[in-house]
Amino acid sequence: MERAKIYKKTLLIDASDDQAIKDAAEHLRNGEVIGFPTETVYGLGCDARDGEAVKKVFEAKGRPADNPLICHIGEKDQIKDIVSEVTPLAQKLIDSFMPGPITIVMKKADSISDQTTAGLDTVGVRMPSHPVANKFLKACGIPVAAPSANLSGRPSPTSSRSVLEDMDGYIYAIIDGGDSEYGLESTVVDCTGEEPVILRPGAVTKADIDSVLGKDETVMSGSLADKETPKAPGMKYRHYAPYAQVEIMKMPEGTEITGDNAIGTDGKIDKSANEPVDLKKLTDDEAKALVNIAAPFILRSREILAKNPFARIGLYCGSEIKAMYDKMNDKLLNAHTEFCVYGKTVDVASASHGLFEGLRFLDVQEVDVILAQGFDGEGLSVAYMNRLGKASGKKEELTPGMPAPARPARMPLPIDAFKDTFTASVLFIDDNNTSLSACCESLMRRLIEKNEPYISNSRSDAGFEIYCESAGLTAMSGLEPDSFMEKAVKELTGFGLGSIESRRADPAIYDDNDLILTVRDEQAFAIIKAFPQIKDKVFSLSTFAAANGLVMKDSSGRVMSISVPDPSGENYETYLHTAKALGAWLEILFPYILKDLGASRI
Ligand code: TXA
Ligand code: MG
Repeated sequence: MERAKIYKKTLLIDASDDQAIKDAAEHLRNGEVIGFPTETVYGLGCDARDGEAVKKVFEAKGRPADNPLICHIGEKDQIKDIVSEVTPLAQKLIDSFMPGPITIVMKKADSISDQTTAGLDTVGVRMPSHPVANKFLKACGIPVAAPSANLSGRPSPTSSRSVLEDMDGYIYAIIDGGDSEYGLESTVVDCTGEEPVILRPGAVTKADIDSVLGKDETVMSGSLADKETPKAPGMKYRHYAPYAQVEIMKMPEGTEITGDNAIGTDGKIDKSANEPVDLKKLTDDEAKALVNIAAPFILRSREILAKNPFARIGLYCGSEIKAMYDKMNDKLLNAHTEFCVYGKTVDVASASHGLFEGLRFLDVQEVDVILAQGFDGEGLSVAYMNRLGKASGKKEELTPGMPAPARPARMPLPIDAFKDTFTASVLFIDDNNTSLSACCESLMRRLIEKNEPYISNSRSDAGFEIYCESAGLTAMSGLEPDSFMEKAVKELTGFGLGSIESRRADPAIYDDNDLILTVRDEQAFAIIKAFPQIKDKVFSLSTFAAANGLVMKDSSGRVMSISVPDPSGENYETYLHTAKALGAWLEILFPYILKDLGASRI
């Protein structure tokens, strides 16, 4: 399906701006697509009665048109206009769970476009409990067809920034209502038959529905008890897929989990659980249990790194596991691990709340593998494991006939996104400062720009700015860059060495920088010899690589180090070749440099 930008910029609307919400509703009634928050995930809304508007949603999502959309309402009164019949079973679920994270499939009325239901004679009806969704849907006053607001094949968005990432320029506006509470899409229940069939598990669980009906009657789609109900057409597609391969780490049997009864918690998660954990406060039993939960992560990571010392591993795990890694202080393991901590390790409500954003975050770190915590409870755990299972599907199982979505551009953060901004700087050193060190500075600057924005690893409410500079151990100050190097860097990046004027390294410059990387090993040794007190932040490119476990071996098993031959006096091709080699190495080292400085991409 053709996906074409139709707006220069998608409008971002503040949820407290009542007039803007009314305007957005007006635009929706006129055929536009609007992104809006709900307690489950963000949706892409349009007029469910207008086939042309629905087509726009499918186009913006890049979604196959055989997958029906859910109709969203702001008032229960609207149900009678959407469906041809409300069975007693459906009525019970409406009374008990609406508004809330449930979608009830009923026989559709003629008013709903066939485009919305993908030709089915049934329609999914959902009334969100999110106050902003409610305000918006009431302002619309019509049934609003809305799928999750992600690009088809990507994790569902639970923040306005993620919607913007996937949809900027493709839809008219997004209403920013903060983070979605549950974080997983609604439970879809087919109520057209005798007994309810859960087509997609969510925060309203089988136990919740059974308890309302007073008997154990609810059928899970795909289970043995499921006779021949049609599956939710969407469930055949691989959803929620990050670019990295996802592996699920099992929780040891018998571990007591919390948050499994999500409806009981009303989607509220314990945000305090993200504070640093003091392992000393654990009882012996708790400590033992924790080791058992962490063991699969550690063992699997070591196995992956043994096979590929360049592998980068993302962990979607609880705060205690992160604390254990910190305490173990295994430098190599830590250098290759990117953490996304969801809250208390055993809390499935927090893990669900953070899952989709977590997968997106780890993807941005460009990890190769994501190891994610599994849960074996019978409530919300079922929905969580369902989504994680889909995310861990094989790459070949991407939506049939659809190419894997391209990585969308990352969005700048709002200026006031953070309370504080930290800064750090990296310095490149060579003997002179007209060629290789200047080349490193320029290439690094491009990498820093390309990977912006950044967040502090030690404080999630702090942004991070990264700078870089260069100097020469024996450089004359004020020289122009070498003209061949200038040309080579320009050919590589489109930017030359521009304003870089040579200067001599001195203690004040060392002081200003948090990481010092020299082109050759002897240069790092010389600096450390002269200033032993800064030895922890001085490396050559090759010792920095080795310190991070980035070793390449030749066919006879000998370790190959990064050696950068000096191109001076050689022809232009040699310069270009050298600049390319440096660029390739800096690209490999970049995530480790970030980690060393204490920052992550966001
Ligand atoms: O929480 C949610 O349900 C979110 C928010 C935005 O409300 N919406 C959502 O929509 O997840 P979507 O389109 O991404 O997923 C809807 C699922 C699909 O798997 C679809 O196949 C199924 O519901 N579905 C929709 N209408 C159906 C119908 N008439 N019969 C069976 N399954 C249906
Ligand atoms: Mg979806």
